[in-house]
Parts: sequence; structure tokens; C-alpha cells
Amino acid sequence: MNEIETKINSLRKKLIQHNYNYYVLASPTISDREFDELLKELEQIEDAYPQYADPCSPTRRVGSDLSKEFEQVEHTYPMLSLGNTYSEDEVREFYNRTARLLNEPFEIVAELKYDGTSISLIYEGGKLKRAITRGDGARGDDVTANVKTIRSIPLQLMGDNYPDKFEIRGEILLPWAEFDRLNKEREDQEEPLFANPRNAAAGTLKQQNPAVVASRRLDACLYYLLGENLPAGTHYDNLRIARTWGFKIPDVIRTCQTPDDIFDYLAYWDAERKKLPVATDGVVLKVNSLRQQRNLGFTAKSPRWAIAYKFQAEQAVTRLLSVTFQIGRTGAVTPVANLEPVLLSGTTIKRASLHNADIIRGLDLHIGDYVYVEKGGEIIPKIVGVDTGSRTMPAGDEVSFISNCPECGSPLVRIEGEAAHYCPNESGCPTQIKGRIEHFVSRRAMDIHIGPETVEDLYNAGYIKNIADLYTLDLPGLLRLERWAEKSAQNLMDSLEESRAVPFERVLFALGIRYVGEAVAKRLAYAFLNIGQMQEATLESFMQVNDIGERIAQSVVNYFAEENNRLIIERLKACGLQMAVDETILTGRSERLKNISFVISGIFTRHSRDEYKAMIEQNGGKCGGSVSGRTDYILAGDNMGPAKLEKAKKLNVKVINEDEFLNMLDE
Ligand code: IVH
Repeated sequence: MNEIETKINSLRKKLIQHNYNYYVLASPTISDREFDELLKELEQIEDAYPQYADPCSPTRRVGSDLSKEFEQVEHTYPMLSLGNTYSEDEVREFYNRTARLLNEPFEIVAELKYDGTSISLIYEGGKLKRAITRGDGARGDDVTANVKTIRSIPLQLMGDNYPDKFEIRGEILLPWAEFDRLNKEREDQEEPLFANPRNAAAGTLKQQNPAVVASRRLDACLYYLLGENLPAGTHYDNLRIARTWGFKIPDVIRTCQTPDDIFDYLAYWDAERKKLPVATDGVVLKVNSLRQQRNLGFTAKSPRWAIAYKFQAEQAVTRLLSVTFQIGRTGAVTPVANLEPVLLSGTTIKRASLHNADIIRGLDLHIGDYVYVEKGGEIIPKIVGVDTGSRTMPAGDEVSFISNCPECGSPLVRIEGEAAHYCPNESGCPTQIKGRIEHFVSRRAMDIHIGPETVEDLYNAGYIKNIADLYTLDLPGLLRLERWAEKSAQNLMDSLEESRAVPFERVLFALGIRYVGEAVAKRLAYAFLNIGQMQEATLESFMQVNDIGERIAQSVVNYFAEENNRLIIERLKACGLQMAVDETILTGRSERLKNISFVISGIFTRHSRDEYKAMIEQNGGKCGGSVSGRTDYILAGDNMGPAKLEKAKKLNVKVINEDEFLNMLDE
């Protein structure tokens, strides 16, 4: 192999790895800019030495988000990407090149580059016909059902001056607030966190259950109108007009006559964008006239009439002091970098996530290294590189992933196909045991009134070694311990007593089975009705339950296969805990809702609309179609029609969500 070939191979290999880190692991280890530089370098060498061309080279792909569960649809107009620039000089080059090619006056439209996942919406006769993801650029996934849950996307257009058939493209976004909420929920569940809102939006759009999509409150910004009979001859006017049809089109787009106009826009938004509710990562510049756009045309991958300018992600350099490995209640190991405190984007950074063993290996980290931390689209700062040049000789200890649990010493295991390591010593690892007890007693689970310190005390005293031991506690025993007074001990005994009435679905959630959060627990509980059926169920029968995939199903099967877990369940059952669904909720015969009239509206996550209707009727209530003076409650899910909401307000009808409704039944 000659020098050129070696260079090409090495660049391709690097790019493939980084591509994988970015799209598959969702944990990039270099910045977008560095990635683009590597790609550009490879492109140049491949151009100069076409004899080494390879159709599978990283330069030949746009990146694909196709997945097998959705119907794939050909795009009428391919969905291309944009060339990236990182400096004013490169923007000026784009401007001058455009001027040279057009050889006549032109205008540039500047708009924000939204950092989500792109979508193409097809409208016919004023109705949303189809929503397709980018896919590989030529074909995408039909995700219409999911997109229909996004409130800011009109299903029926307003006015009447829209073309009979057209496409509009834009970005599906998960607002920061919603991203934080979702990650908090996942953290509680010890599920892997979304690295940034872009990944979260893309992941949500690929959910099989539209109700889950609806519950996450995605948003959309639209920026590109395509079709045969567009209303105007410029991009700017088309967007302005499309706004009157009901589309959410950002009003921060500007027309620019000179490069300086563009630079003003870049400078303003580099700072101002931080106040926006959604993530942005740059500015897109487009030639305004559609005729001029046609004249400029496309290269194989992107239009010549548009370019993206990417904001520099904020970086800081600081020193790596140590790496700690935390064990969660399900045994998952999280590596955390402890850093010399440094200011970044207005907050002091002391810790950064290192995600998993692959990421650590890729970084070649040594204790004492100066590292680059970045907080681009992420809330959790991450280490994107090491300044090996400033490494003191001899270098500090190389950071390697631990092979044994730091709490109990058990050799860690890695489940095939997963990035995380786990401590397998479920019944012997103190951190896991205490974590599981803390989860069991938590408010949304069994609601037993003790905090983490008390759990620690009771564990250290040898009183509780598992969740079932909680029910062996007694008043005299507690009072023998330091720091326990009659009142607090009685309080604990009372809440243990009350927990015997906690419904089965919450007991199931409280067991702390990996990946079984509140919603999944509820779904499983209603599908199997009691714990006995679940213990006997097969992997396949778990997977037949709506929204339960193989990962969750396997985890539940594994849980029940464990002798120790079966024993604990037997003991909990003997203590009188609820191990079956209160069937009166589903099968009726109650008068709890007698003479109460409901209207159901929107999309729900816990039960289907039909199930709610049945529950109301079987408990003596009535279900109406439209809101009137006789309506007592509106049971509202996501995406409830605004007209209904308005009417409810006017008539003073109480609007309740599904949790509130289920509570009504529980009482
Ligand atoms: S125009 C042919 N405008 O950035 C050009 N794209 O790297 C069509 N994006 O695939 C795209 N904000 O997902 C355009 N204001 C904006 C954008 C935008 C974000 C995304 C889009 C596109 C990618 C290109």
C-alpha cells in the first residue's frame, strides 16, 4: 500500500468510528467542526486520486435514519444536506462565489439553523397527507401518525390560497424544558440519558406508539417550501405566505443585501440564541430568488444556493483530577470525570459524564491531563478531547474502565449489544440493595416515609437486607436503635401498614425491575392482571403487549427467573401486598362514578380512549361526545382540541388528566 492509500484508509477508519459514536452511541468524542475538517481532508484526497474511490467511503453518504418498523417512501425531491462553514471568511467565499456564478444582483435570506431532526410534510387539498423523515435522502420513513401528535403542525390549513399539492420541510424539535423533564425521568429509571435534544427528538419520532410521542410535546419549525405552484417567486415571500396557512415559521428570518448584513445577523444570534426555548447550532444562508436558486442548482449532496454557518460550541480547558465509577440501583456503572472547576457558558463545571468504556478508550485519557470540555447542544458537559501536547512527563495513570464493582468487588459484566457495564451481584452489592430499597419506598412507588439516610441506618444495623425485610420491622426493634423516637417509629409502622393497599401496578413499579418504569408497569399489570401470570409468561407474550419491546421483555423475564426475586415476591405476597389488579376498576360493578358525566378528548398514555370509556361506564358514569352544561369533567389527554378547551373554560367544566381520573377510581 502506498502513502496515499494508507492516508485514505486511516481517514476513512477514523470517520467511520466518529460517525458511529455520533449516530449510534449518541456520544461524539470530537466536535462537529473537527469531524467536518476530517471529512473535507478525505474529500480532497479522493478528488485528487479518483483511482481510490469507494462507493462506501464516508464521503459518499448523507447519513441514514431508516428503520425497519416504518413504511419507507421515496422523496419527490431528495432531502439534501448543506455545506458547513465555520468562519466569516468561508461565508464571504460563499457570497463571492454566488455573485460570480449569478453575475447579477441577488439577496440572501438568513435564518436560524435549528438543531433537531428534519421532516418533510406533504399537503394535499390543504390536509396533511404524509410526514417523512430524511432517511437516506432519497427514501425516508413514513412517520405520519407520530407527526400528527405535534400541536404546532397543522393537520388542516387555514385560508384558501395554498397550492393543491406541495411539500414543506422543517425541523422537529424537543424544547429544552421538555428535554430536561424527559432526562430527569430517565435518570430516575436508570435508563440511558439522551445526549441532546436532537437525539431525543429523533428517538421520539421513531417511537412505535404515537401516545408516547404525544406525551413528549415535540415542536416543529418549518423553513422550506417546495412544489410546482408556489405562491411567490422568492423564498422569503413563500415563507411569509405559508405562515398565513397556519405553519410555524420562525419570524427571525431576515433578508440581507450585503455581507455585512449577514455578519450582523451572525453576531446577534450567536449570543441571542441562548435565550431561545429550542436548540440551534448555526445560521442557514439561502439565495432568496427561486429563479436564481434554479440557476445555481445542486451538487450531488447539497444546493449551491445555500450554506450553513455553524456557531462555535463553547469549550473550556481544564484538568482531569480523577474518575469515579458510580453504581446505580440496577447495577449500571456510570463513569464520571471529576474536573478542576472551570467556567463554561455561565456555569461552573466540576464533573463531566464519560458515558461508557468505549468513549473512555477513544479519548486516551490520563489522570492529570488537560481536557477540552464542551457544552454544545448538551446539558451534561462532555470531554471532547485531550490536550496531549501539555501532558506532563511521565503521563499520569491511564484511565481505564474498572473490571470489578467498586462497592462489592464483583467482576462487572457487559450485556451484548449494550454500551453499559453492570455489577451482576444484585442481591449482595450494598449500593444496589440500598438503591433498590430507596426506590421501593419512594413516593410514586410504595410511599413509605423514610429517606436515604434511614435506609442506610437500617441496612447498617442489619435490620433490612432486601425490600421484603421492611415488613419484618417492629416498634420495639426500631426503638432499640439510636435516633429513633416513638413518634418517628410509629410513623414508619403506619406507612408500612398503608402500603399494603398500594395498587398492584405501583407494587410492580416498586420492585425496580430494570426498564420497568411507571408507564410500563401499568401496562404490564393490566395485560397480565396478576403477578402469577407474569411469572409464568414467556418472552413472546411480554412482547405482545403494546409498546413492550424485546429489551424490556427480556429484562422482566430475567427478573422472574431469579430464584431470589421469586422468594421476595412470595414474602411480599404473604405480607398482604397487592399482587393483582383491582379488577373492579376494569370490570365494573362499582358505583363510584354514579351520575357523573364525562367527555374524553385527546391522546392518552396509560390506557386507550376505549378503555377509559369502559371504565367510566362500568363504574356508573356517563360518557358524552360534546361539552355541554351537563358535563362534569373533561378527561383530557394530549393534543386536546382547542375548541373543546375553550368551551370547557366558558362553561366552567373541570378538566382532569388521566392520573387524576385514575385517582378518582382508586378512591
Ligand atoms: S434548508 C436543501 N434551513 O440542517 C436545503 N435547513 O445540514 C434544505 N436545518 O437537513 C435545508 N435549520 O435538517 C434549512 N433554517 C434551516 C434549517 C435547516 C436546520 C437542518 C436541516 C438540514 C440540515 C442541513
